[in-house]
Amino acid sequence: MNPHFRRTGRNRRPLSGVLVAATLLAGGATATTGAASAAPAITPAAPKASTLGAQAAQSGRYFGTAVAAGKLSNGVYAGILDREFNSVTAENEMKWDATERSRGSFTFGPADQIVNRALGRGQRVRGHTLVWHSQLPGWVSGIGDAGTLRSVMRNHITTLMSRYRGKIHSWDVVNEAFADGGSGQLRSSVFRNVLGTGFVEEAFRAARSADPSAKLCYNDYSIENWSDAKTQGVYRLVRDFKARGVPIDCVGFQAHFGTGGPPGSFQTTLANFAALGVDVQITELDIAQAPAAAYTNSVRACMNVARCTGITVWGIRDSDSWRVGQNPLLFDNNGNKKAAYRAALTAMGGTP
Ligand code: XIL
Repeated sequence: MNPHFRRTGRNRRPLSGVLVAATLLAGGATATTGAASAAPAITPAAPKASTLGAQAAQSGRYFGTAVAAGKLSNGVYAGILDREFNSVTAENEMKWDATERSRGSFTFGPADQIVNRALGRGQRVRGHTLVWHSQLPGWVSGIGDAGTLRSVMRNHITTLMSRYRGKIHSWDVVNEAFADGGSGQLRSSVFRNVLGTGFVEEAFRAARSADPSAKLCYNDYSIENWSDAKTQGVYRLVRDFKARGVPIDCVGFQAHFGTGGPPGSFQTTLANFAALGVDVQITELDIAQAPAAAYTNSVRACMNVARCTGITVWGIRDSDSWRVGQNPLLFDNNGNKKAAYRAALTAMGGTP
């Protein structure tokens, strides 16, 4: 399934035969369009959905969550996962320290479990993540020779992307490469320090070769506020890639927010990146104390940008969150829906 295909479900108003024919010719018709033409006078608008994934799908988007392989056997956890979400991201299982603990020796059990379970249930999968300074084994961070690191990085990208070729809708090819603060430059890491700033481009080129069917994303945090130097640094990188034909398809905004939620410019930031010709996605959303208004503002920012193709929250229940004690998610420790859940669903046009 193409995650970027915009369904026309919200527009199932009566269509004239000419319009139906034109839609069919354009290749944009669905089976429901045909049904609408058969009974135009009584076809209602698409119903408001009552789950996150179903409502996101009304506008061709996905609503996903991070999942941990070790929790899939928990009934409450799996029940919410399968009821509410139509995309998953492995919280840790595809990271370098989980997949290639020693050079050339790959482990895929937990990642396979997440991928196979999701695809078997019609959920899509984000790939997270290939090149990142964190959760990186010491044998990689200790490499000092450019030729060796280049070949190790390429092999890691190629091996992971080949294993899941055709199964991942978007891959976070490079994660968190930019420095915090005012520099707007790449952070210090073994990749930048040994390969130079061109490592980002090298990674994206290797990724395109490995799985041409996956959208290739750059993913980072604290790039939601338009005027921030870090945001501007990423923007310049993406603009340069697009100008020079370096493959890049999407930018992931992690969206780990404090209690105030997104900065007022978040939608502007999403729109400005989208205008470069890439999709944008909210990839790791969580908000300290999960104020409903902060979730509303986050979801609205995405819904208001046509090329914002989906939202992922970084865990299911508060007890699943990496932000211990901050209760930043949509479900409480018992799996009950919080006010933030209702805010997110309503902001997409759904009904709790
Ligand atoms: C976090 C996981 O949630 C934790 O379980 C793990 O201990 C550390 O990493 N940015 C990212 C994610 O890109 O991979 C991180 O996930 C959170 C910050």
